[in-house]
Amino acid sequence: MSYSTLLVELDSAGVAIVTINRPDKLNALNAEVIAELDDWFSKAASNESVKGVILTGAGPKSFVAGADISRFKSLGLVEGKQFAEYGQQVFSKIENLGKPVIAAVNGFALGGGSELALACHLRVASTNAIFGQPEVNLGIIPGYGGTQRLPRLVGKGIATELVLTGAMIDAQRAHSIGLVNHVFEPEALMEGAQKLLLSIMGKAPIAISLSLEALRASDLPLAEGLRHEAALFGKACATADFQEGVDAFLNKRKADFKGR
Ligand code: COA
Repeated sequence: MSYSTLLVELDSAGVAIVTINRPDKLNALNAEVIAELDDWFSKAASNESVKGVILTGAGPKSFVAGADISRFKSLGLVEGKQFAEYGQQVFSKIENLGKPVIAAVNGFALGGGSELALACHLRVASTNAIFGQPEVNLGIIPGYGGTQRLPRLVGKGIATELVLTGAMIDAQRAHSIGLVNHVFEPEALMEGAQKLLLSIMGKAPIAISLSLEALRASDLPLAEGLRHEAALFGKACATADFQEGVDAFLNKRKADFKGR
């Protein structure tokens, strides 16, 4: 499938840079963008050439300025629920990719844009990034996971304030509440995202995938999460990469992980 709203580059190390490309509309998420993200992330899961992903927005001004508001007039009770469910499904696909996904937030990350960044495993932002959940200004609520992922990441008190006030916050504030991991000057953002991703991709890939799965289980009650962790730890112990990692340590050499 060729994409009309996404630009995709894949380098020889396995870093895929996926750029949402509607800069004249500040990369707002219309039906086409969501469908193309769905398609690309579905295929990326089984594409062995893709080892990690950086998701960003085209242009200097915006990551994603939200769902495309021009579509909203046609939404009623049933359509609204379907709209939210499909977006949630696609964003969960990103979260469940099994490979690291970093949002490189290069400007506005509002509404669905903030929710898209939240569905990524890590977020880095440029100094001009602005985050917010302004849905209440339009008479709606976040529908692509914002009321669920934001409190899990920054705590319920701060998330409640952000969702109820629709306030926009800058990159420094987003960093101080744990919404973003690192802040870079705009010209250093992509390099910063790549360095972070490559540092993860240098580890044992199955251990990374199992770590992501275990971290997701931190949303469960503790006893259940611990059961998941133990089962996933067992799986990691059954890999050739585990043998390699331990052998490399004991023999004071660099591990050569094969993803097996
Ligand atoms: N949906 C559809 N179009 C959008 C959009 C969105 N979420 N956000 C921006 N755009 C469009 C604008 O309509 C405008 O299109 P036009 O040139 O055809 O008129 C273009 O993108 C540029 O936006 P503009 O508003 O002119 O830029 P700005 O710098 O003055 O303001 C924002 C930037 C982000 C503050 C403003 O665009 C905004 O508030 N957007 C909506 C944010 C939002 O509520 N998102 C959550 C939706 S649930």
